[in-house]
Amino acid sequence: MRFGYFDDANREYVITTPNTPYPWINYLGSENFFSLISHQAGGYCFYRDPRFRRILRYRYNNVPTDVGGRYFYIHENGDYWTPSYMPVKAELDAFECRHGLGYTRIMGKRNGLKVDTLYFVPLGHTAEVHQVTVTNESDQARDFTLFSSIEFCLWNAYDDMTNYQRNFSTGEVEVEGSTIYHKTEYRERRNHFAFYHVNAPVAGFDTDRETFVGLYNGMSEPSAVVEGKSRNSVASGWSPIASHSLAITLQPNEAKTFIFILGYVENPKDEKWEQPGVINKSRASTLIQAFSSDDQIESALTALKDYWTGLLSTYALQSSDEKLNRMVNIWNPYQCMVTFNMSRSASYFETGIGRGMGFRDSNQDLLGFVHLVPERARERLIDIASTQFPDGSAYHQYQPLTKRGNNEVGSGFNDDPLWLILGAAAYIKETGDYSILHEDVPFDNDPANCATFFEHLKRSFYHVIENLGPHNLPLIGRADWNDCLNLNCFSDTPDESYQTTENRHGRTAESIFIAGMFVFIGVEYAALCEKLGRNQEAQTAIRHIEAMKQAVLDSGYDGEWFLRAYDFFGEKVGSHENAEGQIYIEPQGFCVMAGIGVENGLAEKALNSVKERLDTKYGIVLINPAYTTYHLELGEISSYPPGYKENAGIFCHNNPWIMIAETVIGRGEQAFDYYKKITPAYIEDISEIHRTEPYVYSQMIAGKDAVRHGEAKNSWLTGTAAWNFVAISQYMLGVRPEYDGLLVKPCIGSEIAEFTITRKCRGADYVIKVKNTGSRKIPTLKVNGTPIEGNLIPYAGAGEHVVIECEA
Ligand code: BGC
Ligand code: NOJ
Repeated sequence: MRFGYFDDANREYVITTPNTPYPWINYLGSENFFSLISHQAGGYCFYRDPRFRRILRYRYNNVPTDVGGRYFYIHENGDYWTPSYMPVKAELDAFECRHGLGYTRIMGKRNGLKVDTLYFVPLGHTAEVHQVTVTNESDQARDFTLFSSIEFCLWNAYDDMTNYQRNFSTGEVEVEGSTIYHKTEYRERRNHFAFYHVNAPVAGFDTDRETFVGLYNGMSEPSAVVEGKSRNSVASGWSPIASHSLAITLQPNEAKTFIFILGYVENPKDEKWEQPGVINKSRASTLIQAFSSDDQIESALTALKDYWTGLLSTYALQSSDEKLNRMVNIWNPYQCMVTFNMSRSASYFETGIGRGMGFRDSNQDLLGFVHLVPERARERLIDIASTQFPDGSAYHQYQPLTKRGNNEVGSGFNDDPLWLILGAAAYIKETGDYSILHEDVPFDNDPANCATFFEHLKRSFYHVIENLGPHNLPLIGRADWNDCLNLNCFSDTPDESYQTTENRHGRTAESIFIAGMFVFIGVEYAALCEKLGRNQEAQTAIRHIEAMKQAVLDSGYDGEWFLRAYDFFGEKVGSHENAEGQIYIEPQGFCVMAGIGVENGLAEKALNSVKERLDTKYGIVLINPAYTTYHLELGEISSYPPGYKENAGIFCHNNPWIMIAETVIGRGEQAFDYYKKITPAYIEDISEIHRTEPYVYSQMIAGKDAVRHGEAKNSWLTGTAAWNFVAISQYMLGVRPEYDGLLVKPCIGSEIAEFTITRKCRGADYVIKVKNTGSRKIPTLKVNGTPIEGNLIPYAGAGEHVVIECEA
């Protein structure tokens, strides 16, 4: 069942009913000010850091599930309603929500009154704009009151939901004309405030939640709205809010527009006050003036749309498959940009409090956005590397505001360092910017301890070599990519964190997955050594890689597939000898991607085992059989009920590794088949089962052992976005930047018989026209009409236009 449709021409998903199977959200903002907004206007915004600079309050795990946002209420002769449906839930004659790239429009209609609201964060500004258009579609004049309503968070989102003995006494506001200023804690150490403004005279306002709503009411029935009259309350402690009321008269067919601005302002320390106790509002006024007319809004929205058009033109596909086009051209890259901005911090599944930027996550996300914002990718790589320890290991996470490693989550995830090499290689292939390798970058943010970025990569590589176990395979540490494979944790105490507890110190637990990663990613390190003329170092690296390959073949294959690990006791994990968890997806993907076992058929056998044991109609599960009991020696993976999350859920993040692996052995049709199973546009029709947004990937879909097989959770912030983009764009459609040219190697089966890709890279444009029979191992290519040897197109100069004809 569908709850809307794709409007590709406008790059929007249009939701046609408020009753979607879960709140379907969008993100606003692309620089410093970010917002989450659901199709019912729920959500919140923050400045840079969702924990430390939260502007709007939002209650996770609320009942009903999505209350708290930017709401507009209409009161007309005793009838009151919300055009966003929530929170009043009065029946609407029409509802539509259009989630676009960086903006959302919500329209609700009742009794001949139509309210359209456009929400977006203009480029270059720290504010949400809410442009509200009210239209009288009836044949009578209408008199009504429009109320706005938002609730402020007391900045630190964690304290805001825990420290009430303090919070209930700190709240402060100022009201001046049509602007409400939120200035809690501004009197002491903060030099930032927020404001909510409307470009029209107000009939009244409220800033104290209890007065506006009524202590025993919910947001569905604020007493001021029910009565149609603001109380002009001035908050003192408790919960500051901002609500304006506007008295509006509309003749038949008349429309009026109002612009509300929810802004964030920082003042220099010595310019905080206008007079004692009164905040300096000059910067707020400038912001307000920038958005006081409809023309200003229109040009800001056009600028935003142009910004996205520019970004998305970097890789564009034309094919006869409209679902594929819309994923590759619009929604997949859009989600990649959101993961760039948010990492794993703030979604409807991540509270913005618990997790900072992941070391491994951010490097993988980079694979999906490096072609869109290469300069920012460079900065990101330096930020990540700056948190690395001198021995090559890494903090697992860092905080976006401080860019420092996060001690609470610690380190010791032994896959982490390798992802930095993969991210760096992707950046250099995209840009040709080898200068990054010579950049001076600190360890653990200590300016007194710096080394070149290249040296960081070297330490990443050797961190693996210096931490090998009994089978010469990499030690897993706390865990590898699979955060829940905690082989040294041995936790039998509730409330101990699986992520940070290490009750035993062993040097036996080894990961075949990290071994596969080492082979796949290590060659990038060797290539970079060569590029720098360090041939000896490259040779040494290649010897290590060869030895690792051999170690996998000697001790990492289990007859029909790659083994997953050796545990603390040296016992096999992911083997046919185990009763449960016999086969894991991760090493099948990465070892084959690395080319291990391709020559002797072991790779193909492993992928056949994936098909046979892990594939389901909704995607490939992570393990099989699922663990049915808790295994002390395995950790969190066995803590989940069968079929959920790492315990045999369909982890959409590593499905594309299998797709890529399938292309490595030339099975494009199979790869594309797997792709279609989990890619949102292809499963829009089963939205009632899938439940999360049909325009973005979710981290996990419940697996075949789960009670709710096919149901997805944790949408938006997942490495799934980047890896699926890599799988489809670079391996199936097959256009991939290499160090010395653009490699063209489609492998998608014959279903997509013809397609054209436009790719911008290093300042040149490439138009690649593919005739695809699905039968050629290596395609034949003509570049600007001339046949070439092989399938690497040397990079053209900036400004050049290259036409490639490809028969695949
Ligand atoms: C989840 C993992 C996640 C980890 C992060 C675990 O509970 O299952 O998917 O990466 O928490 O803290
Ligand atoms: C989610 C985490 O963000 C990611 O880093 C990890 O690899 C997966 N969970 C698998 O455990």
